[in-house]
Amino acid sequence: MAVKVVIIGGGSSYTPEIIEGFIQRQATFPVREIVLVDIEEGRDKLDIVGRLAERMIQKAGADISLRWTLNRKEALHGADFVSTQIRVGGLAARALDERIPLKHGFIGQETNGAGGLFKAFRTIPVLIELANEMAEICPDAWLVNFTNPAGIVTEAVLKHSAHNKVIGVCNIPFNMRNSVAEILQTPVERVGIEFIGLNHFVFGRHVWVDGIDRTDDVLAALNDGTDYSPANIVGLGWSESFLKSLRMLPNPYHQYYFQTKDVLKKDLAAYEQNGTRAEVVQQVEAQLFEKYKDIELDVKPEELEQRGGAYYSDAACNLMDSIYNDRGDIQTVNTLNRGTIRDLPDDAVIEVNAVITKSGPRPIAIGSLPLPIKGLITNLKTFEQLAIQAAISGSYHDAYLACLMNPLIQDEKKIDSLLRELFDAHEAYLPQFKKEVYS
Ligand code: G6P
Repeated sequence: MAVKVVIIGGGSSYTPEIIEGFIQRQATFPVREIVLVDIEEGRDKLDIVGRLAERMIQKAGADISLRWTLNRKEALHGADFVSTQIRVGGLAARALDERIPLKHGFIGQETNGAGGLFKAFRTIPVLIELANEMAEICPDAWLVNFTNPAGIVTEAVLKHSAHNKVIGVCNIPFNMRNSVAEILQTPVERVGIEFIGLNHFVFGRHVWVDGIDRTDDVLAALNDGTDYSPANIVGLGWSESFLKSLRMLPNPYHQYYFQTKDVLKKDLAAYEQNGTRAEVVQQVEAQLFEKYKDIELDVKPEELEQRGGAYYSDAACNLMDSIYNDRGDIQTVNTLNRGTIRDLPDDAVIEVNAVITKSGPRPIAIGSLPLPIKGLITNLKTFEQLAIQAAISGSYHDAYLACLMNPLIQDEKKIDSLLRELFDAHEAYLPQFKKEVYS
């Protein structure tokens, strides 16, 4: 049966990667129709990416009809999968999320701390609106959400929209598994990692190759300086005591929590020298789009690997393929807890391994959280739930509470001035706070 996919945020520079993913999987996953959707401000980028995608499909001789549009509702008709890769406010808003917290002495990052909180505030209402449209127009379609902060956004949509076929995906577990395969010089298909936690706060408790526990070998490689950070994070490495005591694989974002002062120092220096990550990405994007315009270009350009989200579409395509083919394989997704982790609420979204079937992900039971990580994970989940509450209520005090419970903010007397500056900077994208904050 032919599959229709709608990509929201289709003008993103990442789109050629997902197009390549569909082309490569034509034999098993028959995507026959793709619609790229964007907003008015993204019209030019959408045209450029659309034309490149068209050339890629033509070159591959794939039987896919492609079009692009600004009319989201019309695009959703008959969709089987809808993937989202949007950034409300664009890279300019991201740069503010990165700079402002740093000015107040806090980590400035697009998915963690105060930056991640404001990205959630801007994004949640937009994704809920999309999900409600899906519930009406294509109720059987799966929403595959990549939009950051992916875990928080996925939970907000599951809690507050009429659509419940929603799965969050991130490239971090996918990339970690590939890096571990490289470290162990083993084909990735033979590597299993038990992932436990939340998006951008996930741990690998065990690594197995053909059923043999190889966790210590991977930890030894990390101790020797092997780094599996994506392009957006400069890995500072881990101490031997950290690795030997924890005996779990950290993910690159853990540096923000376990090396906060060093990361702050490093980011301050880097931002001064080269600009924030958003500012660096603006330059990478400008170059990418210049390339995309070249009518001779008909494949995904290598420079896309300079983006931190590289390979995200492999994770997305694998997920859609397994749902479509009812594969029953194991993938790492953001999905409802429903008892998988005993210490977290049933309606919390967690990032864990799940068996992927036609009826969606079936998460594999974890039981109780390992003691050393239990406190931080439950703390962060509380923060995430407060963040969702604030994004919906538009209440200043809910926003304050979210900051108070975030381990990267917490400093109670500094929260007001931090919030004031972030609210001022993002007013155009936060209509839900109009009554309490902006009047
Ligand atoms: C990581 C994260 C993604 C994030 C990306 C940012 O890989 O897992 O969630 O979107 O990096 O990359 P960028 O190139 O935009 O800094």
